[in-house]
Amino acid sequence: MERTLSIIKPDATRRSITGKINAMIEEAGLSIIAQKRIRLSVSQAEEFYGVHKERPFFKDLVEFITSGPVVVQVLEADNAIPLYRKTMGATNPSEAEEGTIRAAHAESIEANSVHGSDSAENAVIEINFFFDQDEIVG
Ligand code: CMP
Repeated sequence: MERTLSIIKPDATRRSITGKINAMIEEAGLSIIAQKRIRLSVSQAEEFYGVHKERPFFKDLVEFITSGPVVVQVLEADNAIPLYRKTMGATNPSEAEEGTIRAAHAESIEANSVHGSDSAENAVIEINFFFDQDEIVG
């Protein structure tokens, strides 16, 4: 079994579609084994998205992700990382396949409703960023 970190982003919490997104996650065969609703501080967001700090969209990204509540989650399944990336669809919703979370719900490349870890190494870092071990019930 593999674990990945998911974030349901402010555009989705604002529209009260976290339940719809969770249904798509569970229908894809991913178990939600930890979940909490939080508001990221600017410094937390800058640290979490640190790999993107040289990108032109970094400031906007931090502003967006701190603009409202997010739901952070740990998802578990066989091959959870690629399975969740497939379930989310492409980063840019205009390129996301039909039936994916981003095709169904994302508003733009920035307000794209969900985040998922992109590698096993980053999944461990990202899960530990938000969760203590005793908050994860597999
Ligand atoms: P996420 O998977 O959370 O990781 C980094 C985020 O940066 C990504 O989702 C997008 O929401 C955002 N992003 C990536 N490329 C762009 C872009 N060209 N313009 C604005 N935001 C972007």
